[in-house]
Amino acid sequence: MDTIVNKINKLKKEKNAIILGHFYENPEVQDISDFIGDSLALAQKAEKTEAEIIVFAGVLFMAETAKILCPDKKVLLPDLNAGCSLADSCEESKFNEFLKKHPDRYVVSYVNTSAKIKALSDCICTSSNAVQVVESLPKDKKIIFGPDKNLGAYVKNQTNRDILLWDGACHVHKRFSANQIKQIKIKHPKVKVLAHPECEASVLKIADFIGSTSGLLKYTKEFDDTEFIIATEPGIIYQMQKANPDKVFIPAPSFNEDNNICEYMKMTTLEKIYNSLNEEKYEINLDDDLMKQARSSITKMLEISNQLKL
Ligand code: 13P
Ligand code: SF4
Repeated sequence: MDTIVNKINKLKKEKNAIILGHFYENPEVQDISDFIGDSLALAQKAEKTEAEIIVFAGVLFMAETAKILCPDKKVLLPDLNAGCSLADSCEESKFNEFLKKHPDRYVVSYVNTSAKIKALSDCICTSSNAVQVVESLPKDKKIIFGPDKNLGAYVKNQTNRDILLWDGACHVHKRFSANQIKQIKIKHPKVKVLAHPECEASVLKIADFIGSTSGLLKYTKEFDDTEFIIATEPGIIYQMQKANPDKVFIPAPSFNEDNNICEYMKMTTLEKIYNSLNEEKYEINLDDDLMKQARSSITKMLEISNQLKL
């Protein structure tokens, strides 16, 4: 009998489809993906692919970004409930009201937003290029950064620009506890703390390295350190461990009993990917004008990234 993996691979060939997966996905979903990466790499891959169908093993804002970049392709999300708490922390009408109060400010939005927020923004960024996007603007440009206040504060600190922050955050990243990380460091004096910039300032302050998911993965491969505390969603540890079988990876602990799993990313399963490919569901469809507006802000980011070879 054919395994689900074989069935997915057959359908992929038959339909000229590609599976793009994020590092926070379940290991078996990462393994079946044709390409895995951070938000920037996934958007760049979507833009370039020649496949006719893109199945997004990630969350809604990532699938929407792929659709906006490739409006003629069929973009499928295996589970429409795979959302993002950070994107949800920025509702369109409230964000629009905020922008109207500051019409002189240039709007930089994190890619973790709905298509409507992207359409209201001047330029998009991801955690891989947020500092560079802001630095590409004239020094006297006043900026609004949304929706992630932690990433925004980090960018403000790195660039020393006049940045007004939207008050949003990711429910996973805001849970990490700097105090508990410090406790682990006492027992593991050589441990290096690697943190995603969506973490709170108290965690970033004690981090040895701050970067996007692919930035953190790269660090574990390039440096000789052997023990790491990983302050981001622990799905990334699967690739870290694969690349460094002899190194030790400790998921950063959270403030309370809650774990640090992004339940949205874990909604995608092999069964759902199979059904998605087989029945060509759930297709992402967006209004043409909305896509046009959102595309210009995403394209700006991709141009800056290409110029800087990010
Ligand atoms: P990356 O772009 O660094 O992969 O981050 C995506 C994300 O959702 C972080 O929570
Ligand atoms: Fe969104 Fe947070 Fe999940 Fe990333 S980890 S997809 S920011 S909810």
